[in-house]
Amino acid sequence: MQKPQAQSTTESTLQKIISHAKEYGFVFPSSEIYDGLAAVYDYGQYGVELKNNLKALWWKAMTQLNENIVGVDAAIFMHPLTWKASGHVDGFSDPMIDNKDSKKRYRADVLIEDKAAEYEKAGDETRGQDLRNRLARLLEANNLEGVRNLILEEKIVCPVSGTANWTDVRQFNLMFSTQMGAVAEDADTIYLRPETAQGIFVNFLNVQKTGRMKIPFGIAQIGKAFRNEVVARQFIFRMREFEQMEMQFFVRPGTQQQWYEYWKETRRKWHEALGLPAAKLKWHVHEKLAFYADAAVDIEYEFPFGFKEIEGIHSRTNHDLSKHQEYSKKKQQYFDNDLDENGKPYGNYIPYVVETSVGADRLFLAVLSNAYTEDEGVDADGNPKTRIFLKFHPSIAPIKAAIFPLVKRDGLPEKAKAILEDLRYDFNVIYEERDAIGRRYTRQDLIGTPFCIAVDYQTLEDDTVTIRYRDTTEQKRVHISELRSIISEEVSFKRVLEKLS
Ligand code: GAP
Repeated sequence: MQKPQAQSTTESTLQKIISHAKEYGFVFPSSEIYDGLAAVYDYGQYGVELKNNLKALWWKAMTQLNENIVGVDAAIFMHPLTWKASGHVDGFSDPMIDNKDSKKRYRADVLIEDKAAEYEKAGDETRGQDLRNRLARLLEANNLEGVRNLILEEKIVCPVSGTANWTDVRQFNLMFSTQMGAVAEDADTIYLRPETAQGIFVNFLNVQKTGRMKIPFGIAQIGKAFRNEVVARQFIFRMREFEQMEMQFFVRPGTQQQWYEYWKETRRKWHEALGLPAAKLKWHVHEKLAFYADAAVDIEYEFPFGFKEIEGIHSRTNHDLSKHQEYSKKKQQYFDNDLDENGKPYGNYIPYVVETSVGADRLFLAVLSNAYTEDEGVDADGNPKTRIFLKFHPSIAPIKAAIFPLVKRDGLPEKAKAILEDLRYDFNVIYEERDAIGRRYTRQDLIGTPFCIAVDYQTLEDDTVTIRYRDTTEQKRVHISELRSIISEEVSFKRVLEKLS
């Protein structure tokens, strides 16, 4: 009896976050006036500020705090051979199956995993695990007919038509393709990149040579990636167009394990510094590794729908650079003139790579879910009242401070606007004079503004204002000249970055 209840609370928490994100200008469905586009979203006026702050913080943590990491901004379109070399043309696919009655398409493995989860929820852990093991064996052997038989054997039906009238299982490549060139017959098929990492690999030597980089060094990049996900659900968790923040760290062969451990810990610390609680983060070590990888782990965050991956840290050996060397026929080597234990230079080699890869949108959802707070309290008449606010770390809050005149007359607006004018060059601050001051506080709570500054009659006499703190609703009287340092102290990226050293 308990479990369905917990499930519905979970779903309603996600629903609340989705509604809040839409109602208060964080995330909208894409092209909503045409009923939206599945798994594609737009960021609104506050969402874009929050996302930009997250990206800026990652960029600073990676490039500014590490003198051996630099950034690039590679094009989304890349030579088609890039994706042959990387293995995406031949291997970046999901097994899918269609229901002939509803014409709906599903990921065959997800249908089976959902069935396993159903057994586990009902308390039959063994049956669930057994089903997962059978699925893993079939996928490993690329036995798609076996996967279909397992769906039939388990009597899995389409949730829409309720029938088991399934097609065969086929591999479905997740890359979006398009044509480059004006004449259809001569046009080349090119792809929208499914990861940003390859834009870094193909620029490895450009950056190494022009930047005179010495191994170990890293290249960071933030950019859009595209995947034609078969199952796209859970809001911005799994999108067809999304943004990645990736860093490839090039190391001497044999040192990759040490760097893998270093980046694992450093990246987890970064999420905690941002305010994601340690108890809501966990590791998921990959048992089954890609054939070229020698270690891989995900950092998972506990979303309202359970622990799910937000970032991957992968030790990818020299696979990618070796493949690019093979396909481009251009050497992807580095000459290491440091001396080994025998006093000889390490010489030429293809570097090994440790990658850190975090999705900006998943991080956004984690931060938003974590910030969403419902505080049970009482109103002025003693009736129960829930205060909803977004408890963002001040450094990433979309708006840092809102400045209000108590009333719209007697020179208070002019005084408030003068404060705005003084602060706006340093912080993202806004001026607001509509409605009663209580409603103005509520509006700022709902978008997570850490400070509200109220200008009243006393301000005209002694240049003091009240500053209200979002999380406690505490109000303090301070001199206008103190505002810059109070805000700066809280919202500076330094407050996050200093926790990393
Ligand atoms: N270069 C390695 C790579 O792309 P990945 O695990 O496929 O690895 C890395 O993706 C990160 O990108 C994930 O941890 C996730 O945060 C994000 N990501 C992947 N697919 C996504 C999708 N469809 N929607 C949103 N974010 C996604």
